[in-house]
Amino acid sequence: MARQFFVGGNFKMNGSVEAIKKIIGYLNDAKLDPKTEVVIAPPALYLLLAREHLKPGLEVAAQNVFDKPNGAFTGEISVDQLKDSNITWTLLGHSERRVILQEDDQFVASKTKAALDGGIGVIFCCGESLEQRESGKTIDVVTAQLKAIKDKVADWSKIVIAYEPIWAIGTGKVASTEQAQEVHAAIRSWLKKEVSEKVAEETRIIYGGSVSEKNCKDLSQQPDIDGFLVGGASLKPAFVEIINSRL
Ligand code: G3H
Repeated sequence: MARQFFVGGNFKMNGSVEAIKKIIGYLNDAKLDPKTEVVIAPPALYLLLAREHLKPGLEVAAQNVFDKPNGAFTGEISVDQLKDSNITWTLLGHSERRVILQEDDQFVASKTKAALDGGIGVIFCCGESLEQRESGKTIDVVTAQLKAIKDKVADWSKIVIAYEPIWAIGTGKVASTEQAQEVHAAIRSWLKKEVSEKVAEETRIIYGGSVSEKNCKDLSQQPDIDGFLVGGASLKPAFVEIINSRL
């Protein structure tokens, strides 16, 4: 069965009540490709607002979740609290959290397991730095990040893998279609070898890093690119064009 195209919008630490309502209003009114699965990830403070205003059929993701059940963990949000709020997805392993907040592979894997065990889908981010790419380590870095997940989870059906080269995030330097396709194909063959042929065939691998309305069409035609994780452009009307890139 063909993999459903998936487009996530990561608002990062941007927005306000007014701005988020405006973006959602725009999405609700737009004609979106019914074949694309759409998920937006506003800051935690606005998750409920987003869920309340976003039309049914479009989903809301947290940008993070903790790996422990409800309890004395100041500042954190649990999987149960996401479920209670009808938040069905979470991002995990974004490079901004790995680099700025020093989350390591084990912690990301532990949070991934907690989310999946609780029935929340995970948009699992992986990707290399410019230095790692220039020294030819891209595939090793990405597969090491994936291996940490493989060691903890058995069911991949609720995982979407977002390949996001760090050097392409927020820089305007998008990976070329060939560069992105090459890494996506390598991830798929790693899944085939290390997990199973079924998981390799069914898992969506989406690209993130300076995706815009200008470059999305070419990227979306690549055989192993199953969608996008969009940062900056998800805050703009251009997000609709990216959602519709396969139309
Ligand atoms: O999560 C999204 C990525 O970090 C991409 O961000 O589209 O602003 O480059 P960007």
